[in-house]
Amino acid sequence: MSADTVATNKLMNKFDGHHSVWLFGYGSLIFKADFSFIERRPASIRNWARRFWQGSHDHRGTAKSPGRVATLIPQADAICDGMAYLITPQVFDHLDYREKNGYLRLATEMTFDDGGSAEGLVYIATEENAAFLGPASEREIARQIATSVGPSGRNSDYLTDLADALRRSGKDDPHVFAIEHYLKEFAGC
Ligand code: SIN
Repeated sequence: MSADTVATNKLMNKFDGHHSVWLFGYGSLIFKADFSFIERRPASIRNWARRFWQGSHDHRGTAKSPGRVATLIPQADAICDGMAYLITPQVFDHLDYREKNGYLRLATEMTFDDGGSAEGLVYIATEENAAFLGPASEREIARQIATSVGPSGRNSDYLTDLADALRRSGKDDPHVFAIEHYLKEFAGC
């Protein structure tokens, strides 16, 4: 199922007229920066938890066999670590297309690891979008990820690339690392 959000995201005009905008990435935007940026800084956002609850029918799965990718779920006092990119508004054409399967731009405050904060944007796939899969145990999520593949590659690479990136930056995310653990079990290593 597809939930093309490109047109809706074009209506998001909060940062119109700005020469540059901060974008917070928490999933593939951490490890796959296929866009130009002015500056990149490790950052976090508060009151959101990263969860593999979003279906991927266009990147890491197919319409018949969707994969599972990250979205953010509201959770009081949770901290989600990620990467902030300062980008020009032109980059949103590419990003809106890349994130079109259910992700909407949302304004958010982000805190930089090296100090300070800024208001910017984050792509969030809420439970209202047609591609949303919702909660499942981390074992079940790993089982689905283990067998899913789409035009952007294997779903398991998305998970392990994200886990590796978080580890390299010294960040913990029990949800991501639990899925990685089960994924290794299914792969027999
Ligand atoms: C993000 O990385 O910030 C959004 C979700 C994704 O593209 O994986």
